[in-house]
Amino acid sequence: MNQYFATVARGWESLAAIEIENLGGKSVSNGFCGVNFCGDRQLLYKTNLHARLPFRILLKIDEFPCQDADDLYRGIKKIDWQLYLSPDYSLAVNATGKNKALNHTHFTALQVKNAIVDRQREELGDRSPIDPKNPDVLVNVHIDRDRCLVSLDSSGSSLHRRGYRRAVGSAPLKESLAAGLISLSDWQPDLPFFDPLCGSGTLPIEAGLQALNIAPGLFRTNFGFETWPDFDRTLWNNLVKQARSDRKDSLMAGISGSDRDRDVIKQARDNAFICGLEKQIQFQQKDLARIEAPADRGVLFCNPPYGARLGSDRDLGEFYRLLGKVLKERFKGWTAFVLSGNKQLASSIGLKSSQRIPFYNGSIPCKLMKYELY
Ligand SMILES: C[S@@+](CC[C@H](N)C(=O)[O-])C[C@H]1O[C@@H](n2cnc3c(N)ncnc32)[C@H](O)[C@@H]1O
Repeated sequence: MNQYFATVARGWESLAAIEIENLGGKSVSNGFCGVNFCGDRQLLYKTNLHARLPFRILLKIDEFPCQDADDLYRGIKKIDWQLYLSPDYSLAVNATGKNKALNHTHFTALQVKNAIVDRQREELGDRSPIDPKNPDVLVNVHIDRDRCLVSLDSSGSSLHRRGYRRAVGSAPLKESLAAGLISLSDWQPDLPFFDPLCGSGTLPIEAGLQALNIAPGLFRTNFGFETWPDFDRTLWNNLVKQARSDRKDSLMAGISGSDRDRDVIKQARDNAFICGLEKQIQFQQKDLARIEAPADRGVLFCNPPYGARLGSDRDLGEFYRLLGKVLKERFKGWTAFVLSGNKQLASSIGLKSSQRIPFYNGSIPCKLMKYELY
């Protein structure tokens, strides 16, 4: 059995662990900004294709004691790199973590790269070219006090880049964060879902993908493992085929979004089209002041602009008061979830929240405010 580590944003470990367990992960445990788990190659492909929260799935290939640059060079050179890459494959190294002697990730990555290519040259008389942007094999090295963990990055680019979002508005949410917040809210697809500040549509689209059981990886053009020497194309094609056939045809309740900006609504429609959701999700251009509830009850989700990212706090106070008024007067019977990165602005909504769930949006500490509207 292989050992894997799924990297996730800070605070999302437990939810990601549940997701990985549901996909068949064994010995699942929370780490710092990630989830440890075990499984076979099929599970590796499945997590890349189906998991909605992780950024990257790393396959652990070695771990050794490492105090300084010499230990690092020797430990990396001992690994049988012929198992993972030949000189025809390009290489890049990503380093994270540090200790007293290895406190510059660039230097750590360079030392690792040197050790790998030196071993290749000694053994084979040739070495892999370096391709920092699009490597065939991406090696990940993590220094944790006096240990060095060596992994291969099976995802390539971060999995939050689903591939459906060719265009984004200002301050878009990461797709994985939108998916995580929807899971936290306990929204179920038999209830309408509406985002009145939808921007490029990330929240409604992620809700649509969940409701129709659409694997988030289906829109990506490539994954890191596809250029590994041991890539099992038949296994991968079968998993993709299965995921396509597991897609449900129709929604149980409406999913919709609106925004005052005509250009972002066009982007939202284009993004939904890439997912094949253009008929299922309705997007319309509308100012918050003019929206009406699309049904008697449902879940409203939005991430309004807040000081750190858009506009100034003074204009925004008025905007949050309007949001509170619209929720109170026109969304009776609904549950609203409002993302907030600014306590004062959130209080301008003027409604009593029934729950405040803390989370991080990148490095910004935020709250998901829940309002029961009656
Ligand atoms: C933080 S962005 C939302 C981003 C979105 N969740 C995404 O992932 O793309 C806030 C959105 O609120 C919209 N907005 C601001 N004022 C508005 C108003 N008065 N009525 C409707 N939309 C408004 C902006 O156009 C912007 O798209």
